[in-house]
Amino acid sequence: PADGVLAGRQVVITAGPTREALDPVRFITNHSSGRMGYALAAACAGAGARVTLVSGPTTLEAPPGVERIDVQSAADMHAAVMEVIGQADIFIGAAAVADYRPATTAADKIKKADGDSQLALTRTRDIIADVARDHPRVFTLGFAAETTDMEASTRAKRERKGLSMIAGNVVGPEHAFGREDNALFVVWDGGERSLAQASKAALAEQLVALVAEGVRPIDAT
Ligand code: PMT
Repeated sequence: PADGVLAGRQVVITAGPTREALDPVRFITNHSSGRMGYALAAACAGAGARVTLVSGPTTLEAPPGVERIDVQSAADMHAAVMEVIGQADIFIGAAAVADYRPATTAADKIKKADGDSQLALTRTRDIIADVARDHPRVFTLGFAAETTDMEASTRAKRERKGLSMIAGNVVGPEHAFGREDNALFVVWDGGERSLAQASKAALAEQLVALVAEGVRPIDAT
């Protein structure tokens, strides 16, 4: 609706996993289903924003009215975000972006040998940290996927990446990845709030309300 809390805002959201190719048939990835990011895309569109969803491989359909850009690797996702971020007021990084990729991608399928093998990995670029550094006017909402010390790690990650807001979640076989529901620990400059276990759709609505409070007024320069 035009009178939603994000009316007139342009939002860029990343969602899903990335795939880092070893060769034409193999890749490194993670368990992200894209659900959290797609729920946020639906909630932002419902709040009146124009939404661009930069999505790794998922089985989900883009919510109505949301423009989707499909990508595979962390490098593709970085490039796609940088193409569109100039127009954005808000960036939400819900994707589980690979922190490392194979140092080389073989042109042909890697042959099996008799002995063991070692894999050399190279760091990928941090998309949300680059957005926060190079586009300081954009409100940045990141996620923190943690298996231990979730709250402390979430606070530290917000500081380290220079984000406006961050939503921490516990991840693992019983939590977050792929599930319908989640629980979040949200941290911003001067505040924290725990959002209790709920559907990702319900959590996305609550996050959108927090983001809308944090975003600078539309007239401010
Ligand atoms: O997709 P679902 O199955 O619904 O699961 C949801 C989720 C668990 C994937 C989601 O809630 C979540 O936590 N997403 C972030 C996962 C992640 O990669 O977290 P991280 O702590 O490694 O990264 C921190 C932040 O930096 C994230 O906003 C991430 O998108 C961003 N990042 C990380 C690496 C990188 N190269 N570029 C980034 O932008």
